[in-house]
Amino acid sequence: MEDVARSELEEISKVVVESVEAGKVFFKAGIEAMYSLNFSARTVNKLYLLLAREEFESLEDIYRIAKSIDYTEIINPWNTFAVRSERLGNHNFTSIDVRRVVGQAVIESYLSSRSTRLKVNLTNPDIEIVVFIRFNEVLIGVNTTGESLHRRWYRVYNHPAALKTTIAAAMLRIGRYGGQPLLDPLCGGATIPIEAAHSARKYPLLIFRYGYTYRKLPLHDPATEREEALKLLERVDPSVYEICCMEISPKHLKGAVENAKSARVLNTISFLNRDSTRVESHRELNVELIVTNPPYGMRSHNLKKIGLFYESLLKTLREVYSGVRLVAITASMSQFEEACEKLGIKLEHSRRVMHGGLPAKIYSLVL
Ligand SMILES: C[S@@+](CC[C@H](N)C(=O)[O-])C[C@H]1O[C@@H](n2cnc3c(N)ncnc32)[C@H](O)[C@@H]1O
Repeated sequence: MEDVARSELEEISKVVVESVEAGKVFFKAGIEAMYSLNFSARTVNKLYLLLAREEFESLEDIYRIAKSIDYTEIINPWNTFAVRSERLGNHNFTSIDVRRVVGQAVIESYLSSRSTRLKVNLTNPDIEIVVFIRFNEVLIGVNTTGESLHRRWYRVYNHPAALKTTIAAAMLRIGRYGGQPLLDPLCGGATIPIEAAHSARKYPLLIFRYGYTYRKLPLHDPATEREEALKLLERVDPSVYEICCMEISPKHLKGAVENAKSARVLNTISFLNRDSTRVESHRELNVELIVTNPPYGMRSHNLKKIGLFYESLLKTLREVYSGVRLVAITASMSQFEEACEKLGIKLEHSRRVMHGGLPAKIYSLVL
């Protein structure tokens, strides 16, 4: 979904995208983007300041690259730091080795430029230096976000199969949601309707979270931070949008109501305890876009049953909402595709995505 993230980043701030690669978007931007993107990007997890990106042959090269960085704009002398790492590919060293040599390089580089020995704190560091090793390339960055942005902090009810918020936001972008009447016929804890309401109302993420780690960086500028926050808060539009949540389980629907209340969008979402495979459940609903995350059938149904469920749901939705766009995510891809084929529904678009460790696909189609 890197292309979806890219378009969102470009929409929020004046970023100049340099490349879009697996799981990452590289861009240049002014310091104000560190604030505006952390405050409002719904489809990304973390924003890093990139300190180095180079090819390497050995662990010694990684040490040399890390040591050549000037950390004085990144770490104050009184800050603690930790090195985290992710490694992809076969190497004759481990991720622990990477953390050890980069940690040493940071301390030595800082000692030579500031004559201060930085302290390491692995559990609760002020500054998190992140090293991504991808085959023969090393990326070194500093985390400006802190905890991943997909944790929106409003969720009080955890549905057992909750959708990741960033994926829900991306699905709404794929469906070109712009405030039109929306239905999630299998809403669970209401992740999709809440994301929709937040995007329609232009609620920045910062309403619900605080404690970004950029605050510890020497280059943090509180005046620019405030200016960017105010700009976003001025755009908030608490109008009422038509967003409908349908759910067969009273327990999950109650959880959805609690989540919407905590997310401050209770008055723009309607909640219906109905079976969405039945035509009569949809009477008198005004719907222009459907975005949904059906059960995958991994736990509660078996795969044959889930195929039949998809067929009956799509049949009903097409009968009631013919011509309406539907965006859906499922890990039971062949069952969903077969159901569409049986009903003669053409898939306009599909893309692979990992969800909760499962390979899944997002589909877009017109009913
Ligand atoms: C994968 S979960 C949705 C999770 C949701 N996106 C979230 O983030 O919390 C699918 C939901 O569909 C509901 N469901 C299953 N069959 C249904 C039906 N016939 N009508 C309405 N809801 C149904 C289940 O109870 C479950 O909560």
